Amino acid sequence: MPTPERDLTPRPVKDSQSEMAEVVLPNDANPLGNLLGGRLMHLIDIAGALAAHRHSRSYVVTASMDHLDFLAPVHVGDLLILRSSVNRVYRTSMEVGVKCWVESYITGTKRHVSSAYLTFVAIDSECNHLQVAPVIPETGDEKRRFEDAGRRRATRQAESQRRAGSGNN
Ligand SMILES: CC(C)(COP(=O)(O)OP(=O)(O)OC[C@H]1O[C@@H](n2cnc3c(N)ncnc32)[C@H](O)[C@@H]1OP(=O)(O)O)[C@@H](O)C(=O)NCCC(=O)NCCS
Repeated sequence: MPTPERDLTPRPVKDSQSEMAEVVLPNDANPLGNLLGGRLMHLIDIAGALAAHRHSRSYVVTASMDHLDFLAPVHVGDLLILRSSVNRVYRTSMEVGVKCWVESYITGTKRHVSSAYLTFVAIDSECNHLQVAPVIPETGDEKRRFEDAGRRRATRQAESQRRAGSGNN
């Protein structure tokens, strides 16, 4: 099947914004009833991919996930909210930010439990890399995340070169 022409018109960050909600069930938890870290990473990966798919209008693969802190435990029965959006686009890759909260549906309060930055690469059905449309940051927060993403990419690239240089990649 011929590859359809790709639309590389710049798109605003808001077009990629995505939200997932999950009630934590016993199967997701350790014997103390706390959400497993690996399960949260899985949900973060999916929430991040949603934003990357929406922005790039393509298949994507996860290239990397940066450092991840588990700031507070999440318990069985908690309502977990994951919000994601594209922070910055390069050529074929995108940095996506994912923020996770636990929301109490009794009191309406929210508790920040984790945040992560992931890089996704756009691909076609034969795994060829695809160019991605630029992203347009509009709000103050989006502009700050765009600038911060540039610094994180420089750090990632420096770290990757350091590892390659030491033969440890
Ligand atoms: C990620 C992957 C696509 C990179 O492909 P590659 O041919 O090695 O990489 P390239 O050097 O051509 O880089 C392609 C893009 O990925 C980015 N990239 C590659 N490795 C990266 C990493 N570890 N972290 C962040 N970005 C990365 C590059 O910066 C480049 O971005 P740009 O085009 O926007 O400048 C490839 O390694 C892969 O398919 N990995 C497996 C992905 C997967 O299966 N993920 C599921 C979870 S296991």
